[in-house]
Amino acid sequence: MTKKPLFIVLDGIDGCGSTTHSQLLAAFLEYKKDFKVHLTHEPSKSDIGKLLRKFLKNEEIPPTTDALLFAADRDLHYHNEIKKRLDDGYIVISDRYIESSIIYQSIQSDRISIEWIKQLNKFIGHPDLTIILDIEAKTALARKKEKDLEKFEDTSFLVKVRNLYLSRAKQEGYHIISSDDIIEFVQEKIQKTVLDKLNTQN
Ligand SMILES: Nc1ncnc2c1ncn2[C@@H]1O[C@H](COP(=O)(O)OP(=O)(O)O)[C@@H](O)[C@H]1O
Ligand SMILES: [Mg+2]
Repeated sequence: MTKKPLFIVLDGIDGCGSTTHSQLLAAFLEYKKDFKVHLTHEPSKSDIGKLLRKFLKNEEIPPTTDALLFAADRDLHYHNEIKKRLDDGYIVISDRYIESSIIYQSIQSDRISIEWIKQLNKFIGHPDLTIILDIEAKTALARKKEKDLEKFEDTSFLVKVRNLYLSRAKQEGYHIISSDDIIEFVQEKIQKTVLDKLNTQN
């Protein structure tokens, strides 16, 4: 297997398991497969990312502001962190990336089009592999603790979010993996998808 850099993103509705599986995947690739791995997440650890974590709990921040800040955070995240690691030969795994912005911000306001979000994110690099973890909204919400809930997390909203993730995944050719199973089984499917990608990389 070639050891070339690869940029992987795990995404999906809140509670789909993107954080759990990004961590498991990073450990698998690093300790079992001996790759250099950099695990990261969005919002990022930058000051903009920290501000976003606060704003995600605040009902008074409009989705347009969230969209602008997410784009700024991602621009910084890509150029100062992700790209540097890829250039150093790492596999980079990001727990959420542009797809989360496209879905979550566009769905909250008729004024926010997917095209506008893409324009805001015009200068970022794109993942080599995006995996969407799919789960029913009800199950996802049941997995989250009350204190972890963000302003837009309720079942009817998450149903819309899930449908948009699925339709965009088909349109963009993302891999869809059901996360409605025992964690280890879901992780195995993710690992297989990543290993297939690594094996076919030229
Ligand atoms: N397949 C699964 N079965 C049961 N619980 C799960 C599964 N995947 C994740 N969880 C649990 O659900 C919660 C939310 O998972 P998390 O990875 O934080 O989701 P996300 O980052 O997508 O919001 C966590 O407590 C996690 O341990
Ligand atoms: Mg998470």
